[in-house]
Amino acid sequence: MSHWFDSSIAHLHKYSKKSIMEKLFKLLSDAQASLFVLFHKTWVYHWNVVGKDFQQHHTLFGEQYNTIFEEIDRLSEHMRYLNVKPLSSLNRVLEVSKIKEASSSANAEGMISDLLQSNIDFCDMMGKISEEAEEQKSYATANLVQDLMESHGKFVWMLRSFSDTSSKRVQEEVEEEVIEEVEEETTEE
Ligand SMILES: [Fe+2]
Repeated sequence: MSHWFDSSIAHLHKYSKKSIMEKLFKLLSDAQASLFVLFHKTWVYHWNVVGKDFQQHHTLFGEQYNTIFEEIDRLSEHMRYLNVKPLSSLNRVLEVSKIKEASSSANAEGMISDLLQSNIDFCDMMGKISEEAEEQKSYATANLVQDLMESHGKFVWMLRSFSDTSSKRVQEEVEEEVIEEVEEETTEE
């Protein structure tokens, strides 16, 4: 018998409310792996960024990877509290992560837009975990992921503010989505 969660949570410990909590554990495990890859990507860009705004980009990425380092520790320790084992294999982290590794060819603008999108994706993941955690009445987990959502929401704001081009593109995407939704609604009526 094969479950959808077999591959992703095979490393997790048994838990008394296992059947109810499995979904939440898988989401937390995916989040931990994704945060690890985001940490690594931000750190790599901190080293490799070049250009006229080098100092500002280097400092921004530096502040963000330091914050993420603390967040990984907080999230992993919270998983231990839930009796879940955080991922320890880097191969497994890369398999499970919803965020892709750093690009080796990105220029400063590419780095900003890659980090911007990755942080938006991470906020979406935190939103889903928050909903699941509240449903399971796991309020400490909900509180933790809401803190992460706020922190990465701030990253999104800062990264967006750094690049007019990225900001414009995100704004256009939002406008396109709104137009599509309005069109869909009009067609349905
Ligand atoms: Fe540094």
